[in-house]
Amino acid sequence: MSGSPTPPGAAGAMGRGYGRHSQVQQRAGDYGLPLLHRALAALPLPVGGEPLRVADLGAATGANSLDPMRVVVESVRRRTGRDTPVTVVHTDIPANDFDALFATVLDTPGSYAHEPQVFALAEARSFYEPLFPPGELHLAWSAIAVHWLSGVPRPVPDHIYSAQATGDVRRALEERSRADWEAFLTHRARELRSGGQLVVLGGAADDDGSSGADGLMAAADAVLDGMVREGLVTPSEYTRMTIPTWNRTAAEFLAPLRSGPSAGDFRVEEHELVALPDLLLAELRETGDVRDFAGQVTGFFQAAFQPSLFSALDPGRGPLAVHALGEAFASGMRTRVAADPEAVETRWRVFLLRLTRL
Ligand SMILES: C[S@@+](CC[C@H](N)C(=O)[O-])C[C@H]1O[C@@H](n2cnc3c(N)ncnc32)[C@H](O)[C@@H]1O
Repeated sequence: MSGSPTPPGAAGAMGRGYGRHSQVQQRAGDYGLPLLHRALAALPLPVGGEPLRVADLGAATGANSLDPMRVVVESVRRRTGRDTPVTVVHTDIPANDFDALFATVLDTPGSYAHEPQVFALAEARSFYEPLFPPGELHLAWSAIAVHWLSGVPRPVPDHIYSAQATGDVRRALEERSRADWEAFLTHRARELRSGGQLVVLGGAADDDGSSGADGLMAAADAVLDGMVREGLVTPSEYTRMTIPTWNRTAAEFLAPLRSGPSAGDFRVEEHELVALPDLLLAELRETGDVRDFAGQVTGFFQAAFQPSLFSALDPGRGPLAVHALGEAFASGMRTRVAADPEAVETRWRVFLLRLTRL
């Protein structure tokens, strides 16, 4: 999304280019597929002709939901030996582009949703709230979504990235992250039936707080800082620009499951912290095409984070002004990335987690 108008409530939502610029998230999904296979082998099968009920939590445009949901349909049908009905509910926040989601799920050739007795639905509500009746779900899958917080408690004044926060601002973010993760687990515990499986691929951080994206975030922050100095963005807009994410450490992910409120609700079956490869930098090293690399990195950043950042712009700015700012940001980002590709090497940390509802 290059400077498309930023709708109200867009913080946390993905931009229009998400389908094209989400190979990183797709790679994370690939890492999660073995856990999904094991979850499908372990979950209690539906009985008496009832459907298998699955949630895809934080689906965005659905681009990276097709493969895992096909795995779900094929696996349950292998286990039952018949066309067991399957209901998949893709959820996301109301600002998500649900038109794009349905276009992906319904119009992509070979989509899982074309299989007989498969029903693809959507729900526009935060996963920090109740989403389903008690005991509804056999399986819940969430890929690269739970690091998005329910909001920014206090903006990080001198950087766009929460990992750079210090002092009280940092403590407020840690507290929001803890409360959100506990709420997520509490609601899923109520919604999953006994034996039901929860697979989460969560944006994560090493023990020292590094998410693997610090160079990329520093580059984007420097571009926005330059836009403030040029008078394109006001200092107070910049101060409000904080991406509403918190990449949890393994300890933060596991705390409520070990001794916190969800300890008796779930059994931790497996977990692992992985560092994703930087696919774009690997391609650059092969092709030497710096211009393409800079465009791809900028496209990824804008698709994932620009709606959140631009939701901090003064509401009086019209769509054309916002579009122009998006163009200016993209141009600055491409120049900066092309000048020093290694500085934006990005190896996102992802926490792979599989839980059984007790
Ligand atoms: C990086 S995308 C990942 C999308 C997809 N699961 C994938 O693997 O490509 C993160 C998604 O989480 C959604 N999200 C953020 N906060 C959310 C919340 N509180 N409830 C539900 N979805 C949320 C965003 O709107 C976005 O669509």
